[in-house]
Formats: sequence, C-alpha cells, structure tokens
Amino acid sequence: MALTKKTVNWINKLNISLKGKTVLVTGSNSGVGFKTVESALYLGADVIMACRNKKKAEAAREELIKEYPNALIQILQLDLSDLSSIDSFTKNIFDNKIDIDIFVNNAGTFHKSGVTKDGFENVLGTNYFAVYYLSEKILPYLETLSHKVIYCNTISVVHKMAKIDYDDFYFTRKYKHFAVYARSKLCLAKYSYYLSKRYENSNIDVFMIHPGISVTPLGANAFGNTVKKLAGLMKWVFNSPEKSSLSLYYIISKDLQTGSIVGPHIFEAWGYPKENRVRKCVKEGADELIKFSDNEIKKII
Ligand SMILES: NC(=O)c1ccc[n+]([C@@H]2O[C@H](COP(=O)([O-])OP(=O)(O)OC[C@H]3O[C@@H](n4cnc5c(N)ncnc54)[C@H](OP(=O)(O)O)[C@@H]3O)[C@@H](O)[C@H]2O)c1
Repeated sequence: MALTKKTVNWINKLNISLKGKTVLVTGSNSGVGFKTVESALYLGADVIMACRNKKKAEAAREELIKEYPNALIQILQLDLSDLSSIDSFTKNIFDNKIDIDIFVNNAGTFHKSGVTKDGFENVLGTNYFAVYYLSEKILPYLETLSHKVIYCNTISVVHKMAKIDYDDFYFTRKYKHFAVYARSKLCLAKYSYYLSKRYENSNIDVFMIHPGISVTPLGANAFGNTVKKLAGLMKWVFNSPEKSSLSLYYIISKDLQTGSIVGPHIFEAWGYPKENRVRKCVKEGADELIKFSDNEIKKII
C-alpha cells in the first residue's frame, strides 16, 4: 500500500533525500519496519530488509517493488532468537563489505513466553540480548566506514514503567508478560544511551526511536482472536504503523544529539514524532547492566 498523501506531505516538508544511501531495517516485512522501509524508498535509498522469514520478506519486497519498480531491495536472513543466525548475518555483511548508512534495529516481540534457541527467556532474548550481541558485533564494523552512520534501536514508551531486578531478571518467580516486555525495552534504552556515549567521538550517532502505540501484528496477535478483533476496530484511535515509522526521518532532518529519544509527541504515544525526554532510568545503571549482559552471553558462546 502506497504512503498516504499526508505522510508524503510531512516527509516532503523535511527537505531530505536518501539518494545514494543504504538503509538496513530489521523486522521490515511487517508493521512499523515495513513502513520505515517504504519511506526510505520514497526518499531514494537502497534498502536491506533483515528478516527471519524469507517467504514473508519476499512477499513484502514484492509489494514494495510494485510501488518502486527501480528500487534496490536486498533481503538478508536474520533470526534474533538464535545467536548463530546473528553470527551468519554479520559475517555476510563483513565478507561482502556491505555499506550501510542507517541501521535500524526494529525487530521485536511481545507476549511470547518460552525460550530462544540459546535458552534466553524469549522476549528479553529477542528484544534485548540479541540486539546487544548484534550491536557489539556490527558497531566496530560500522565504525570503519568512511561516512556518518545513524544507528537506531527501537524501544517503547513502556520502558519508563519498567524495573530491573538482577535477582530475578527473567521473572522466573512469577512470569508477567507486560513486565518482561517493559524490562526488555528499558534494558535496550539503557544500553543504547551507553552506546551513544561510547561512540561519541566516532562517525556513529546512536538514537532510540519508538512508535508510541500502533496496531500491528505485534500486539494484535498476542492475545487471541477477541483482542485481535478489538484491536482492528480500535486501530483508528491509535497511530497508524506509517505515522509511527516516521521517527527515523525526523532524526535525519534535525541535528539531534546522539543519545536522543524520538517518538510520537502526544503523551509519547500518538501523533507525529518529536524529541522525547531521556529519563534518569535510561541514563543511569548502564555499567551494572553491561556487566550482567556480558556474563549472560558468555555463558552461551
Ligand atoms: N506497535 C506498537 O504499538 C509498538 C509500541 C512500542 C514499541 N514497538 C516496537 O516496534 C518494533 C516493531 O514492532 P511492530 O509493532 O511493527 O510489530 P510487527 O509488525 O509484529 O513487527 C515485528 C517485526 O519483528 C520481527 N521479529 C520478531 N521476532 C523476531 C526474531 N526472533 N528475529 C527476527 N525478527 C523478528 C517480526 O518478524 P515476523 O513477521 O517473522 O514475526 C516482524 O518483522 C518492535 O521492536 C516493537 O517492540 C511497537
């Protein structure tokens, strides 16, 4: 489905072009990621869709090609629930010296109990540990590129409701779907802020983006058919995935400081994107989290 006239007008006002740039978006076969890629194509970028399901990715690419027949859209396989898939994905990029100007970690999961292939609790494993592992591998490579790189991690407004308890990090005492998701996004936000400091004097700017509230398969599929139907009916109340995908383009058009958060401007849940406040919970406690994360990953690799 083509971008709406409203979106096109909003993007045009930014006065930006991505001609000659390569934009990689993980989880771009669906929802916010798909729309992020669509806008990148509109702005003239070459696109890399990093997706776990080849069939879904190809169907999404077909849809985009109809709208942008001359576009360069590459698909790379990436399953965040499997660290060895991240190894193959990054090896592919390194071996083929793939040039990337904008890297968006968008893929994520919600309300999915169980464990990843490596034994991490599913939501924390996919939304946090996988992005941590991937970032530690890809950022040193991106740092060698001779141009500026924008690196974005997708958090959620619910990060501000989360708490980190290292004694029961995986909620083994009592599993709570929402709290696990919120914790995964707070960890990702803390880590992203830490990365922005680590790469402060480099070619890489690190940002956190979030979609506010948008009806996509992420939430709609989580609770069964009744909620799915309700979500379908309520979708006009929330941001469209298209509007929720515009944070990246706001960042590109402004000279924002690395470490900024961008998301919808109305209660950080609805509307067009603006810079959001970076809270204390994001700025503090990274050292403990990094130490913990390193140890958890070392237990697996
Ligand atoms: N929608 C919201 O209101 C909302 C609010 C706050 C934050 N977010 C965040 O926004 C991001 C995009 O979500 P969305 O709402 O657009 O949901 P979505 O349409 O369900 O998209 C999620 C994408 O992530 C992919 N994915 C899930 N698990 C993966 C894995 N193990 N490896 C690789 N890819 C995986 C999915 O692939 P498959 O299609 O194969 O499942 C899909 O492409 C997520 O990080 C989410 O947490 C969304």
